[in-house]
Amino acid sequence: MDCDPGHDDAISLILAASKGSGLSIEAITTVAGNVEVEKNTLNALKVCDMIGLTNVPVAMGATKPLLKKQAIAGEIHGDTGLDGPDLPEVPSRQAVDQHAVDLIIDKLLYAEEKLTLVPTGPLTNIAMAMIREPGILDSIEEIVLMGGGTFGNWTPVAEFNIWVDAEAAKLVLESGVPITMFGLDVTHQALATREVMDNLSEIGNPVSEFVVELLEFFSKTYKDVFGFEAGPIHDACTAAYLIEPEIFDFKHVRVDVETKGEFTYGMTSVDLLGVTNGKPNVRFATQLNEGRFWKLFDRALRSYSFT
Ligand code: BDR
Ligand code: CA
Repeated sequence: MDCDPGHDDAISLILAASKGSGLSIEAITTVAGNVEVEKNTLNALKVCDMIGLTNVPVAMGATKPLLKKQAIAGEIHGDTGLDGPDLPEVPSRQAVDQHAVDLIIDKLLYAEEKLTLVPTGPLTNIAMAMIREPGILDSIEEIVLMGGGTFGNWTPVAEFNIWVDAEAAKLVLESGVPITMFGLDVTHQALATREVMDNLSEIGNPVSEFVVELLEFFSKTYKDVFGFEAGPIHDACTAAYLIEPEIFDFKHVRVDVETKGEFTYGMTSVDLLGVTNGKPNVRFATQLNEGRFWKLFDRALRSYSFT
């Protein structure tokens, strides 16, 4: 899981690591995105402590995008990148002494079976790994990412993760690896409404309480910044898909990333009508079954009552 936690990245990790998810997390790698990579790394380690995931390596990755200056989303995630819940200042362990890009390459080259990459931040680490060791391409089962969409949230047409490092995103989307993409079209259907938060509050274990505190903060900033009535839990769609793929609908389409436009930098051109005749390179998520999504969420959080 390659991430920039980040409230919704943290929740995605929590879903993936829940008992009964059927998933096995090989590594957590961090990237500059929501806040600086050092802070994202600390946050990843703290989330691991919170959920008892202390045997999975956490490696720090790219400190900035491939070509551009770093941009952060502090107004959404707060100064620490994970504002809201009270967390210990210092995690119980440190990141491993290996760059995230090297860890991703090692994991892929030495794994017995193909692995799935789950990026929920800018795609810098993934692009760097592909450039550094093209031999990894055959070992990637699928890339399941959060990013893009047919509209934007950072500019009118560009989503944050893609806009932060559009050059990296272009490289990844053109890599030929199977890609499943959760863009804003579908992640804006995963809304943590007051009713959702009240229901989750009733679970009452430390992890569910932590998640509710994350959601309270995130929903408030989404209201303040975007005027949304509820916060969209973007990144959690990736883990939910890996746990229960049937809760999403997809279209297999051509998606290209704009890296040159004066007004359109970071835009994803999603050819839903097939007008470009471009070779489809992405399974683009279009629809979420909300009822099943929140049931999955509830089940995952309840599984932490027994750990
Ligand atoms: C994406 O941007 C980040 O702020 C979130 O963590 C998510 O990955 C949504 O545009
Ligand atoms: Ca993220």
